[in-house]
Amino acid sequence: MQTLTLRTPDDWHLHFRDDDMLPETVPATARCFARAIAMPNLVPPVTNADQAMAYRQRILDARPQGSTFEPLMTLYLTNQTTPQDIVDAKARGVVACKLYPAGATTNSDAAVSGIEALYPVFETMQREGVLLLIHGEVTDSHIDIFDREKAFIDTHMAPIVAAFPTLKVVFEHITTADAADFVKAGGSNVAATITPQHLLLNRNDLLVGGVRPHNYCLPVLKRNTHQQALRDVVVSGNKQFFLGTDSAPHPRHKKENACGCAGCYSAWSAIELYAQVFDELGVLDKLEAFASENGADFYGLERNTTTITLQRTAWQVPEKVTLADGTDMVPFFAGNTLQWKLQSAFDTP
Ligand code: DOR
Ligand code: ZN
Repeated sequence: MQTLTLRTPDDWHLHFRDDDMLPETVPATARCFARAIAMPNLVPPVTNADQAMAYRQRILDARPQGSTFEPLMTLYLTNQTTPQDIVDAKARGVVACKLYPAGATTNSDAAVSGIEALYPVFETMQREGVLLLIHGEVTDSHIDIFDREKAFIDTHMAPIVAAFPTLKVVFEHITTADAADFVKAGGSNVAATITPQHLLLNRNDLLVGGVRPHNYCLPVLKRNTHQQALRDVVVSGNKQFFLGTDSAPHPRHKKENACGCAGCYSAWSAIELYAQVFDELGVLDKLEAFASENGADFYGLERNTTTITLQRTAWQVPEKVTLADGTDMVPFFAGNTLQWKLQSAFDTP
């Protein structure tokens, strides 16, 4: 097979950032995704409908000429979020709220420290049909960083899912067999996104032969048995799992740093990275459902009607991307060769 035509995909989890970064990040995603869930961890975070709508407009303004790309907006939950915030946000088209445990990752200092105190908010989200997107890691200092996702399942995820059976919950960027098993057993209102880095890499790729800061993200890469469990999930074709890149740009100097930032900027090669994995696994026929159908179905949105086409051709992910102000970023998988390349997008079948 030399070309692969798919229904146009959506990215169900990514970070566009703001202001000067948008002319870089928005075209990168709008190149082949019709929609994307825009994460709200700006500084300050997007915590209400007005902020979400203003951010949406800034993203729309950064689209390439003629692009119909549609950002899907989210609120960042804090201890101050009220049920009325949810009602207002829903009325303005916000589709989901993101739960970051305080201190879990980039710009999460304002996040939630008492998850149970948010149950009235979850109740309203369940009633209003607003999805709950969860960064599923505990942040207790005595819990080992490699065990934080599993600990979150037991401490918070299982109780939330049990308490709100009709709330749609997305376990974001899962990294462990434990999370995959939890989602599989969770019924039709529980789903998960999987990133390219967690399918392609394991913690050896972070630590063997030297620290690789551009492979550092959160949740951190896990051992190869967990990577294999995620690869098994995509091979299974289970509809509860779908594409969410967690593309998360940081300037090179903040990654190559004594205290480097977490995040992999994968937008310019995202669909090609997933194609690489699905090809390696011999399941290219499962890519379309994962990239273009399961997420829309879970969110209760229409599937896209156009298509994109990838071509089998070897190409190298560039070593860097340079912003207008001269700042360098190192894309995820920089310098590596991929076997599939986007040939055309938004074609009418
Ligand atoms: O690696 C990550 N980077 N994980 C996250 O959860 C946040 C993201 C970011 O915003 O940079
Ligand atoms: Zn993220």
